Parts: sequence; C-alpha cells; structure tokens
Amino acid sequence: MANLWVKKSITELQSESAEGKSGLKRTLTARSLVALGIGAIIGAGLFSITGGAAANNAGPAVTISFVIAAVACAFAGLCYAEFASMIPVAGSAYTYSYATMGEFIAWIIGWDLVLEYAVGAATVSISWSRYLVKFLGYYDIHLPASMTMSPFDTATLADGTIAHGMINFPAILIVVLMSLLLVKGTKESAFINGIIVALKVTVVIIFICLGWGYINYDNYTPYIPINTGEFGSFGMSGVVRAAGIIFFAYIGFDAVSTAAQEAKNPKRDMPIGILVSLAICTILYLLFAHVMTGVTSYTSFQGADGIAPVAVAIDHMGEIGANGVVTPAYPWLNKAIILAILAGYSSVILVMLMGQSRVFFSMSKDGLLPKVFSSVHPKFGTPAKSNLLFMVFVSLFAAFVPANVVGEMTSIGTLLAFVLVCVGVLVLRKTQPDLPRAFKTPLVPLVPILGILSCVFMMVFLPGDTWLRLIIWLAIGFLIYFGYSIKNSKLNNPDKKDKE
Ligand code: ALA
Repeated sequence: MANLWVKKSITELQSESAEGKSGLKRTLTARSLVALGIGAIIGAGLFSITGGAAANNAGPAVTISFVIAAVACAFAGLCYAEFASMIPVAGSAYTYSYATMGEFIAWIIGWDLVLEYAVGAATVSISWSRYLVKFLGYYDIHLPASMTMSPFDTATLADGTIAHGMINFPAILIVVLMSLLLVKGTKESAFINGIIVALKVTVVIIFICLGWGYINYDNYTPYIPINTGEFGSFGMSGVVRAAGIIFFAYIGFDAVSTAAQEAKNPKRDMPIGILVSLAICTILYLLFAHVMTGVTSYTSFQGADGIAPVAVAIDHMGEIGANGVVTPAYPWLNKAIILAILAGYSSVILVMLMGQSRVFFSMSKDGLLPKVFSSVHPKFGTPAKSNLLFMVFVSLFAAFVPANVVGEMTSIGTLLAFVLVCVGVLVLRKTQPDLPRAFKTPLVPLVPILGILSCVFMMVFLPGDTWLRLIIWLAIGFLIYFGYSIKNSKLNNPDKKDKE
C-alpha cells in the first residue's frame, strides 16, 4: 500500500546535492545568484502594475503597499534561505515539502509551481509582445494585429476598426529564444541575465534620479486618499488590496533557490542570492513608486495600461509653462524605458523557465514524473529536453491564451508555495531541531507564522475565479499523481530504485 506521507530523508537529499551527482554543473557565484534574483523580480509588476494600483487602490500610499508586500516576502524569503542553504537541491519548495510534510504535499507544491514558473513565463511573454509592438511602432513598423495577439484578444486600429488576434508570434519568439539560451548552458544564461539586469537596474535608477528633481510635494496630499465607500478602493483597505496586486512585482526571488544545485557554494550563497536580491528590489521599488506618484497626481494614471503609467510620469518630468502644460525634459527616456522593459521581461521569462525545468528535474529524479524531465544534455550539462518541452508548452500558452486569465493564477500559485515553505520551516525545527543549518531563519516560530498569515491574507484578497482555477489545476494534478506518480515514486516503490 503506497504511503502518501512518506518523507525524503534530509541526509539523502544532502548527498544527492553533492558535487557531480545530479549532472548539473556548479557554475553560479553569489553575484550571479543575486543577479538571477533581480532578473526574475523586476518586470511587469513594477513597470505596468504599479500605476494601476496607485490610480485605483492606494494613491501615493502605493509605497506603503510595497512595504507590506515586501515584509510578507521577507518572511517567506528568510524561510526559503534556511531551506536553500540546508537542502541545496534544484526542487526548491517541492523538495523542502518532500522532506518535511511528505510526498503528497510535495506533489501538490511541485504541481502548483507550474503556475508560478511556466504560467508566469507565459504571462510575461504576452506582455513582452505588447511592448515590442509598441516599440516598433515608434519606428513606423506595424505588425499585423492578427499575428501579435491570442484569438481571444481584440485591438482597435487607428482607423477605428476592430482587429482580432489569431496567434501571438512575438510571445512565441521570446519563449523560444530564452529556452534555447537555457539549453545552451546555465553559465551562458547567467551571463546574458547579468547584462540584462545591469541595463534594467540602470534605467530604473535613471528614472529615480531624473524624476526626483521634479517631485511636487502637493501630489502626496492626501497620502492615503479617502475610501470611496467601496472596499479596496483607497483608504486602508485600498492600501492592502494594492499590496496583494503589486505582490506580483516581488515574485521571482524564490526562483534563486531552484539554482541551488548549480551554485558553487550553495550553503553560503543561497541566502545571499535570495535575500540580497529581495532587499535591492525593495529599495528600488519604493524609490520608483515615490518618484512616480510625486511627479504627477496618482489620478493621472487612471486608465493608463501597460507602459503608459511610466510614460505618463516621464511626461510630467519637465518645467510647467505659463499655460500649465508641462514640457517634458526627457522625451528620450520613454524609449529607454521600453527597451529596459523588453530586456527586463526577457530575464523574468528566462529565470522562470529555468526554475520550472529545475523543479520538474527534481520531481522526475524522484520518479514522480517521467525520466525525460531529468535527462541532462551530455555536453551542455542542462536539462535540455525538459527545456524544449516547456518551450512548446509555454509557447502554446503564450500564443493562444489572453494574459489576464493567467496573471492572478501566478500570484495565487506563488503564495501557496510560500505558505508551505514557511510551514516546512516550523515542521523541521520541531522534528529535526539539531540538523546543521548554514542559515537560520531568525525568531522562529514568529517569522514563519507571520509569513503564513501574511501570504494567506493576500490570497484571501484574490478573486473567486482565481481560486476556482487553482482548484481545477490541483484536481488535474491529483489525477496525474494517482494515475502515474504514486506508482512510479522511488520512495513508495523501493524495488524500482534498487534496479537503477
Ligand atoms: N516579478 C516579476 C514581474 O514583476 C514576475 O514581472
């Protein structure tokens, strides 16, 4: 009789992660891990979602929302850091759950992580496509709408006609490019990621520095606009709702932990990668949001989608003429921002795709998924077949599914993973208090408990249909688990393990 709650031993996991056993190459330094984190974190959340959250929910107090979301992420980040330094294997939250709460919960979390990584990558690639169209438009290059949107999307053309999408080719293009880069090598991927990160961080800093001089302090009054009578629309409830929305902006720091098996010195460097990338992004986000809502009134972002919120802010950086009209001082900054967004989104997609293949790598090693997901390319030392399979899966999603359907699924999936990682730290401190931990989450049990509460709190604020999609996704997962995984699990079928 199979045991749903069978656990992997930590000692076994630690020996699995030992040099050379996985086939994955150890090439990543602390610096490249921090860059990986920033690569995955700064993206659509900052450049697209912040403006809407200020306009509709929090006003200038969107900075407070960023602090709330950052605190919740910091609790989870500290728990991730403890696990990632103690069990430095590619499976991240999946493996931590396997060691602490047993196979069934581990399966749920591994399956759930597809929402964060694969579906998240598809979501960001759809936004990438939108910005590419916009950028090419600056140079009078107009791609046909039918080739740049899913069949469920429509666009209003300049002459007022409505165009229908068929397939989103640019989204496929970026997924294919990033997947091929991952196939080629983790070191190469980290190198390109480093360049992209330098570019996007530079543009963010330029925005902050140039904008700072044009802050009009009147725009900060009232700092928390009065609630409109509707829950979540300004007032304190709006600030919390905005925190749930811009939580998306922080997703990605945990992806660092999936690179544990490729880190040169995971015990020391995993906590650095996770916590330093989170800290750097938090500071940049706060300053960015402060400038954005300082150079113009938060009401200017009303109805501004995509690139528009940042563009609106840039257009307000300038001298106000006698007629009250602002002459933008830095019109070139808009193009630079779009370039940074295009590059920035690419690195989010890259790290998400990498995280996805590494989680399935571990699940496949454990027998819960077919072997193809853990086969390592003999020359490149990467899970190339898995990368190519996900290239197809994510491309299909990106080509034919509208972005709004999948964005919130990414958030709910990630929050669930964070909750289970925090629970895992509590469980392991109780069951195996004496295990050596290279990094210890401070103030246990307070920090993990606060992590659980804050993540559940944000989940509760997500819409009902997102919950429904999560439940359907998990139900599909159960079918696969009981139909395939439990019969092939190495822990549940030790004879299979022996034969290998
Ligand atoms: N944090 C990532 C972004 O904002 C997912 O795009």
